[in-house]
Amino acid sequence: MAQDINSPKYTIGVIGTGTMGRGIAQIAVTGGFRVKMFDAQEGAADQAREFITRMVSRAAEKGQMSEADAAAANDRLQIVGSLAEMADCGMVIEAIVENLDVKRAVFGELEGIVAEETILASNTSSLSVTQIAAGCAKPERVAGFHFFNPVPLLKVVEVVAGEVTAPWVVDKLDAIARKCGHEPVRTQDTPGFLVNHAGRGLYTEGVRILAEGIAEAHQVDDVLREGGANFRMGPFELMDTTGLDVSGVVMESIYEQFYQEQRFKPQAFIRNRMAAGLLGRKAGRGFYTYEDNKKVAPAEPAAPADLPDSVWIGPEGHASTKILAAFLKDKVEIETGAKPSARAICMVAPMGRDATMTAIDLGIEAERTVAVDTLFGLDGRRTLMTTSVTDEGVRDLAHGLLASDGGAVTVIHDSPGFIAQRVIATIVNISCEIAQMRIATPGDINKAVRLGLAYPQGPLEFGDTLGPAKIHGILTAMHAFYGDPRYRPSPWLTRRARLGISLMTPEA
Ligand code: NAI
Repeated sequence: MAQDINSPKYTIGVIGTGTMGRGIAQIAVTGGFRVKMFDAQEGAADQAREFITRMVSRAAEKGQMSEADAAAANDRLQIVGSLAEMADCGMVIEAIVENLDVKRAVFGELEGIVAEETILASNTSSLSVTQIAAGCAKPERVAGFHFFNPVPLLKVVEVVAGEVTAPWVVDKLDAIARKCGHEPVRTQDTPGFLVNHAGRGLYTEGVRILAEGIAEAHQVDDVLREGGANFRMGPFELMDTTGLDVSGVVMESIYEQFYQEQRFKPQAFIRNRMAAGLLGRKAGRGFYTYEDNKKVAPAEPAAPADLPDSVWIGPEGHASTKILAAFLKDKVEIETGAKPSARAICMVAPMGRDATMTAIDLGIEAERTVAVDTLFGLDGRRTLMTTSVTDEGVRDLAHGLLASDGGAVTVIHDSPGFIAQRVIATIVNISCEIAQMRIATPGDINKAVRLGLAYPQGPLEFGDTLGPAKIHGILTAMHAFYGDPRYRPSPWLTRRARLGISLMTPEA
């Protein structure tokens, strides 16, 4: 019989007390569990205990818990000198070095120590839970319990079922997570599990935009932060924060683990930047430079002062043209006839298409055409895109006009889907594919990404807010233009877009 997690005696073993182990131990003791910590390195567990005690006391000082509760939590924490002392644990989680053989050896040893029904959990972020379990005599009691750093702040944990994990094991881990104050999300044992899989698109599409020469790193970040998508950080700021030595390796590993799925393809410049030591904040140089650990962002170029006499906008009747028209009203003379007058510059607002092809299809001169991204409206930072041959003068007049109310403008080279459309559509599409593959439920996909990656909305919510048909249209247009399978819409998205229903709609 598995032990009752609400018994005051229920004990969780934590093996490895580094960055993750100490965080897990902290939330477990504050959640009411007894915790036994073990670390192979001498003194490491003592350091972890000092750290946890300090954190718990600080929480009491801030009034987040009573002094008595803090003292009781600290009393529940015990350091042990060997795995043998884990014998009475109801669940043991390892947060040791990310190495399959070492993790298997530790679980193998534990199997000879703990009771038959003790759960063995791994905090692995990139290894297969099934492969770790395969080294055990009772693989059905092994599961992934994947926390995020810093554990006490990112209140979500992935409960990963390996191929043969017993249902009672994941049920129990769910309950343990909740008692620790964390939200469990269920995921199948697939590369990147849920959060790192669903979060891929921000990176892969960001680096693709850079590799294709469409925009600079800071421009991509600026647009995704300020252009209405409201990310806290763009992909390049994130990579600089994590360190390219870590994020570059994850990018390559997920791509390879999915047998070179094109959606996850990294770009060659990532390897070179890793080799050159352009690792980010910790190296003082990455996609940005850092002075005194502060990011130095390139200065915003001043907006040109001159404004156009007249702007032709098209194609008439399109929702995105209406957004553009509403924005330009009162700022400039607008033309909406079949063809622009000789003195007009042309502004278009395509979805999933580039400026050049849009101009050609509308029969207007590409030299005097620019495009504006209206995916998130035009309240935030605006993205202005040139065709392959836009006159510099036309570009500057359009820039001046878009900035004439003091708003920020990012000027980029031609790209189907600008920046925001292609990144957001990619993120939504990958999450649709996660739902399609039954890796996690739509609700858990959103919850995991909101809590684990601090996105403003879950990816499927993003898709619903913008409209599944619009996202599908952007991807279909990009797929047609590039002929690259990375942009093929997920069946989950295609069907829901055609049915006109929410991306959250599960299948029976
Ligand atoms: P860390 O290097 O900070 O801590 C690992 C600890 O495990 C060290 O104190 C080390 O002495 C100890 N250790 C190593 N081998 C051991 C063994 N055989 N027996 C007992 N103790 C041993 O590592 P970190 O960052 O805490 O990562 C631990 C695990 O958590 C890894 O599997 C990692 O992939 C995963 N993870 C890490 C995240 C992060 O942001 N750092 C996020 C999510 C998961």
